[in-house]
Amino acid sequence: MKIIVNGAGGRMGTVLCNLIEAAPDKEIAARVSAEFTTDAAKQLYQSLDEYTGDADCIIDFSNHTAVPALCAYAVRRQLPLVIATTGLTEAEMAAAADAAKTIPVFRSANMSLGVALVACLAKITAKAFPGADIEILEKHHNQKLDVPSGTALLLADAIKTVRPESTYNIGRHDYGKRTKEEIGIHSLRMGNEVGTHEIIFSMGSQTVTLRHEAESRALFAEGALSAAAFLIGKAPGTYSMDDIFE
Ligand SMILES: NC(=O)c1ccc[n+]([C@@H]2O[C@H](COP(=O)([O-])OP(=O)(O)OC[C@H]3O[C@@H](n4cnc5c(N)ncnc54)[C@H](O)[C@@H]3O)[C@@H](O)[C@H]2O)c1
Repeated sequence: MKIIVNGAGGRMGTVLCNLIEAAPDKEIAARVSAEFTTDAAKQLYQSLDEYTGDADCIIDFSNHTAVPALCAYAVRRQLPLVIATTGLTEAEMAAAADAAKTIPVFRSANMSLGVALVACLAKITAKAFPGADIEILEKHHNQKLDVPSGTALLLADAIKTVRPESTYNIGRHDYGKRTKEEIGIHSLRMGNEVGTHEIIFSMGSQTVTLRHEAESRALFAEGALSAAAFLIGKAPGTYSMDDIFE
C-alpha cells in the first residue's frame, strides 16, 4: 500500500510516517506538509498538488482548513481518502461529503477502536438510564487547537442518536441549574496529555463512568492505517469506525 501522508510534518504525521516505514507491506508515496520545502528525492512536498506520482490512498492529519483542497486533489486523482483531521467547519464537512460522491472517504474524529467501543457503550448506557445527567470531560495536551475535542463531540453525537432531545452545553459558565436535556462538555488542556475522555452518567442513586485513555499517539496512526486498508477498493461513499466494526 503506497500512502500519501498529508500533514506529515506534524505530531501525528510523524508517528504515522514512522509506522509506515516500519511496515513491510506499506510505503510512503509522499510526505506533504505546509512547513516542508519541496524535495522530491526525499519525498517531501509543501503542497499536495506538487505530487503527481503513484499512490493507493491519502491519509490526512493536518488542519481543517486544508480539507477542501485535499478533497479536490483526492477526487481529481480518484484516490481513497482517510480524513483524521478534526475541527471541520460545516463547509469543510460539506466538501468531504461532496468528495464522497465519487471516491470512498473515511472520516472519524477518533481513529481508535477503544473510542468506537466507548461510543457504543455510551449509547447503551444512555438508553438504560434515560433520566441520567450526562457530563463529558476531555483532557488533551497544551498544543491542541480545537475545543472541545472532536472525540468529545463524537461521543455526544453518539448519545444524541438515542436521546435526540439532547443539547450540548460546552464549557458551562452561566448562572443557573443544568437542564435535563443538556450534555455538559468540559475541556482541560495541559502538558503532554495524549487524550482522555470520560462520560459520566449520574442517576442520583448511582453513577456510571465510561473512560478511555490514549497512552500514545500510535493508536490513532494504527487506526488510520486500518481505515486506509479497509477503504481501498470500496465504492464511493462516507465511511466511519462503525463500518469497520461491521
Ligand atoms: N482522528 C484522530 O484519531 C486524531 C488523533 C489525533 C489528532 N487528530 C487531529 O489531526 C490533526 C493534526 O494533529 P497534530 O497533533 O498532528 O497537529 P500538528 O499541528 O502537530 O500537525 C499538523 C501538520 O499539518 C500541517 N498542515 C497544516 N495545514 C496544511 C496544509 N494545508 N497542507 C499540508 N499540511 C498542512 C502543519 O504544517 C503541521 O505539520 C488535528 O486536527 C488533530 O485534532 C485526529
